[in-house]
Amino acid sequence: MKAVILAGGSGTRLYPVTISINKHFLPIYNKPMIYYPLSIVMLVGIKEVVFIVNPQDLEKFEKLFGDGSHLGISIKYKVQEKPNGLAEGLILAEEHIKGDKVFYLLGDNIFYGHNLVKVFKEAMTDVETRGGAYIFGYYVRDPERFGIVEFDDKGKVISIEEKPKKPKSNYAVVGAYFFDEYASQIARNIKPSERGELEITYVLEEYLRRGSLKVKLLGRGFAWFDAGTHDSFLEAGNFVATIEHKTGLMIGCIEEIAYRNGWITREQFLSLVKSLDKSDYGKYLKRIIKEEGL
Ligand code: DAU
Repeated sequence: MKAVILAGGSGTRLYPVTISINKHFLPIYNKPMIYYPLSIVMLVGIKEVVFIVNPQDLEKFEKLFGDGSHLGISIKYKVQEKPNGLAEGLILAEEHIKGDKVFYLLGDNIFYGHNLVKVFKEAMTDVETRGGAYIFGYYVRDPERFGIVEFDDKGKVISIEEKPKKPKSNYAVVGAYFFDEYASQIARNIKPSERGELEITYVLEEYLRRGSLKVKLLGRGFAWFDAGTHDSFLEAGNFVATIEHKTGLMIGCIEEIAYRNGWITREQFLSLVKSLDKSDYGKYLKRIIKEEGL
């Protein structure tokens, strides 16, 4: 399976903060927002990643991640000329996905939870063996902001709607989707919505029509943030800070994950740590090397 991370878009909901900087570079506490979805991809064990980026940000992304080899992974970039919607990423990344299945992640989504990696890995295996699409629902108090999934009494999905004015449930579709090899083809056949975007929910509706959409609810024990508004951005940063202080461990530390996964050598890891030496981030890596004998 390959991963595609969406890191384009206009970020208008974070204006004026994002007039001159792409939101994915903004810090969620002590690391850029985009580290968090990349860390999830690495935690589930995927080593081939495509970032969808705006033309003006390509160079900055390349500066941040390069070709990914320092993390033992392969990173490719695909430019999205305009924010034409989330489903366009499936079309743009097609040449890199090359008929494979895909873990599709939104660059402003932050996940945390004890069993999260297990839950994502199970979904990944399900799509790898049975095909279809696998998504996750999360209870929210402001359903008008999200893609919303409606269930019948037996828990069967009836509908999926993007930012409904009259939401049929409080379950938002979170920004982590597993798709089989037909997703790009489906995306190519959908039409832009009234707001002019190729909606990811249209792709999900097509899987629903085909009877191959699975939804799992992320309940107690999971935290999910869409850090695309001022409040949720702050909330996500405070959450990460609290968890990291309490546990003494970092969330979304891509260098640590690369090393623990065995994707880079000890020498490579030590040289990464050295380059980050002066920051608390680097000090953390140094500390875990010492304490855990890494
Ligand atoms: O966060 C979950 C929600 O994300 C889902 O419930 C919705 O169904 C889904 O449409 C999406 O809604 P948002 O309004 O939050 O999407 P946003 O415009 O913030 O874009 C999500 C990410 O995708 C963000 O990191 C920017 C990036 N993006 C967005 C667009 C529109 C792109 O890379 N290209 C785009 O064209």
